[in-house]
Amino acid sequence: MQPVVIRTERLVLDLPVPADADVVTRACQDPLFESVLTTPWPYERRHADAFLGEHVPKGWATGGELTWAIRANAGDPLVGMISVRETQNEIGFWMVREHRGAGVMSEAATAVAEWVLAGGIAGASTVFWRAVVGNTGSAKVARAAGFRHIRPADSLVPDRDGNLRPAWFGVREAIVDPRAESSWNEILGPRA
Ligand SMILES: CC(C)(COP(=O)(O)OP(=O)(O)OC[C@H]1O[C@@H](n2cnc3c(N)ncnc32)[C@H](O)[C@@H]1OP(=O)(O)O)[C@@H](O)C(=O)NCCC(=O)NCCS
Repeated sequence: MQPVVIRTERLVLDLPVPADADVVTRACQDPLFESVLTTPWPYERRHADAFLGEHVPKGWATGGELTWAIRANAGDPLVGMISVRETQNEIGFWMVREHRGAGVMSEAATAVAEWVLAGGIAGASTVFWRAVVGNTGSAKVARAAGFRHIRPADSLVPDRDGNLRPAWFGVREAIVDPRAESSWNEILGPRA
């Protein structure tokens, strides 16, 4: 698949490129990433170079993983990263720490889910989200993006070492389920 650009009210989601390596290397030093993501730890410049130079283009070419840089404008430094993996159309994301809390990831995740479900990925009728139990920031993004909290029998996610950890799961269809918002109350409480 050719890389696709998605535009939202405030954002441009486009191809992450090798020139983004400095920003990615810095962002992935965030101590939070050690516990909630599967990005390499410790994260080194060579990881960003391989990710941007090999993994991202290969993911688009094969359709295995579609990854976007989140920017305010084309050509700006990225403020976050979001991807959809072929396996179950699973969405994953992170924000550069200084740019959090402004609703950026909620806007980006909504746009990516809607793009997938509007035919961006042929035949996709669901998008999945999962996070380690306790990652409330990620769960709030999933809630804001119209996902519904679900409890699969096997609610586990592998960490970077392949060990399985208890996880929260969510699913979203093209039309947001009317029960989606309230489904999060038991883990997040009602929205403030
Ligand atoms: C999760 C993450 C991407 C959120 O990005 P963001 O741009 O700050 O998200 P938004 O501004 O759209 O915030 C969405 C909601 O999450 C809340 N939130 C954001 N970060 C939070 C955090 N660390 N802890 C608790 N709540 C958080 C916001 O207050 C907002 O709440 P609301 O819906 O009640 O208004 C960001 O915190 C991050 O990069 N975390 C580390 C990586 C990660 O966990 N990725 C997901 C792995 S599954």
